[in-house]
Amino acid sequence: MFSGGVHVFDSVGSTNDWALEQIRQGRALPFACIADHQSHGRGRRGRRWLSPAGSNIYLSLAWRFSLQASRLGVFSLAQGGAVVRALNRIGIHDAWLKWPNDVMIGERKIAGILVETIDVRSDSCTVVAGIGLNYSMPGNISPGEGMNWTDVAHAARGGVPGRNELAAILLDEAAELCQRFQASVDAVLAEVESVVEVLKGRAVELRLGDGRKFTGTVLGINGLGELRAEVNGTERIFNSADVSLRGRDGSRAAGEPC
Ligand code: BTN
Repeated sequence: MFSGGVHVFDSVGSTNDWALEQIRQGRALPFACIADHQSHGRGRRGRRWLSPAGSNIYLSLAWRFSLQASRLGVFSLAQGGAVVRALNRIGIHDAWLKWPNDVMIGERKIAGILVETIDVRSDSCTVVAGIGLNYSMPGNISPGEGMNWTDVAHAARGGVPGRNELAAILLDEAAELCQRFQASVDAVLAEVESVVEVLKGRAVELRLGDGRKFTGTVLGINGLGELRAEVNGTERIFNSADVSLRGRDGSRAAGEPC
């Protein structure tokens, strides 16, 4: 059960931006914020995160770790694992984690994670973990050609809990993950490695921010949460900051709803 402050907004620019600003102003940690609507929701790699009102869950959790920032490499993937556990708790058992931090049902994206660090010191750092979980995306929203997404309303086979109830479960799992991460990064890494198993041996296309593309086969992740892939017979390491993963034919294996 999360015991920090929780701030609920009808509308905010971005829950991550609000949390980062609060940290700069010295708000006590940990805290969380949840919004019904974001006017400037942000995704990874500078993308927009479409955040219509009354539809989805937009949550940010701010947490201070007594850890070197270099230990955070696997944190966003681990937060994806927390989303998978929240979905399990409401009866959705076919969600999986796609490196670096997409939560998928089949080949459709149901949630994304945006982790940002602030106040980084030699032995501690503060993290804002932003989670966007599609709950019931309005039918008239078209994320764009080739962008495959789904939501809880479609993924759930039985009854769907209310959005607030699910947000509370999500916060509970996200905060629990932070506690476990502080206690043992290595234990969390081992859990995440087993979840990422599903990607091993998959043929993928890796696209770098500068436009370069590689095709290769996924080998796994390393201790920093980076992707290991075999490219032209050589193992290469890819950092989540500048790579997106696609099917070998270049199709978007996952599309962000933005
Ligand atoms: C991605 O897959 O690109 C990450 C999407 C993260 C979206 C969430 S919604 C709550 C928080 N506030 C934001 O502006 N972004 C994150």
